[in-house]
Amino acid sequence: MIGELQQLEKDALAELATATLEEQLLAVRAKYLGRKGLLTGLLRNIAGLTGEEKALFGKRCNEVKEYLTSKIEDALKLQLGRKKEDILLKGKIDVTLPGRFVPCGRIHPVIQVRREICAIFASFGFSVVEGPEVELDYYNFEALNIPKDHPARDMQDTFYIEENVVLRTHTSPVQIRIMEKVQPPVRILSPGRVYRPDSDISHTPMFHQMEGLLVDRGVSFADLKGILTSFLKKVFGDKTTLRFRPSFFPFTEPSAEVDIRCVMCSGRGCRVCGQSGWLEILGSGMVDPAVFQNVGYDPEEYTGFAFGLGLERIAMLKYGISDIRLFFENDIRFLRQF
Ligand code: PHE
Repeated sequence: MIGELQQLEKDALAELATATLEEQLLAVRAKYLGRKGLLTGLLRNIAGLTGEEKALFGKRCNEVKEYLTSKIEDALKLQLGRKKEDILLKGKIDVTLPGRFVPCGRIHPVIQVRREICAIFASFGFSVVEGPEVELDYYNFEALNIPKDHPARDMQDTFYIEENVVLRTHTSPVQIRIMEKVQPPVRILSPGRVYRPDSDISHTPMFHQMEGLLVDRGVSFADLKGILTSFLKKVFGDKTTLRFRPSFFPFTEPSAEVDIRCVMCSGRGCRVCGQSGWLEILGSGMVDPAVFQNVGYDPEEYTGFAFGLGLERIAMLKYGISDIRLFFENDIRFLRQF
């Protein structure tokens, strides 16, 4: 019987040596060490042995069982390690391969400028508000001191939708809409699309403006100059030189257009500034008392200033773009540069 036991151990080790998969190893364990396995079978014959033989055989059986158990355990562990390694190998990453291209949009240059200007005025305490692009004649003209048949209407060619409904020609109507709703102090900035039937190298039928309005007690032209000077220096650099030129807008009195020293030629004169050395940047002025009356503000109590500027123009000067139409052709080669 000891001989049979030795044979069993040999067979089991031989089978173990060829088993590599987990199922195979478990099968070997079941075959030799399982409850209905061969070793259990051998032990059944123990009844026919003498006391001494019994003890010896039982001891040997236990030894074989322990030995095989540990061998199988080791083999199972080894196999598990191989399995993990396999998984890792299969998932191996070749870090030398080129990366996958992730298409990534960019912010349109006009919107970049809009965000930049909004951030500057936010730091001055202005809040951003918006108004409708389809606007009543009243807000676009009438309330801004531009009555029907007034020659000032010719300053801005207009897309009419109906007799009293227009595509707004500027962002100034937002001034009226805000002042109708809130009492001073008012400090707002209103960016948005505006429309005029014009199309050439420096005009598109749709473009973007930004309107600013500040109303309070004791606001003077010096405040207008101060705010606009700080603003333009932030956009075009600390060394920017400004020029306030008397002008006319029906809704401001006095009015001034603001020029900066040409950013292209530093004032020597070039094609961009038309040899003048100056670039027209924005329109501004002290709010006309007639406008305050239209919104129910007392012009004896309050004063204020307003300004309006074209965002494309600022973007063109900042980025050296010579044709405004490029902004709206959406040529990806153009837009990618910002
Ligand atoms: N609305 C004027 C324009 O479009 C600009 C402007 C705004 C001028 C506010 C003065 C004050 O030309």
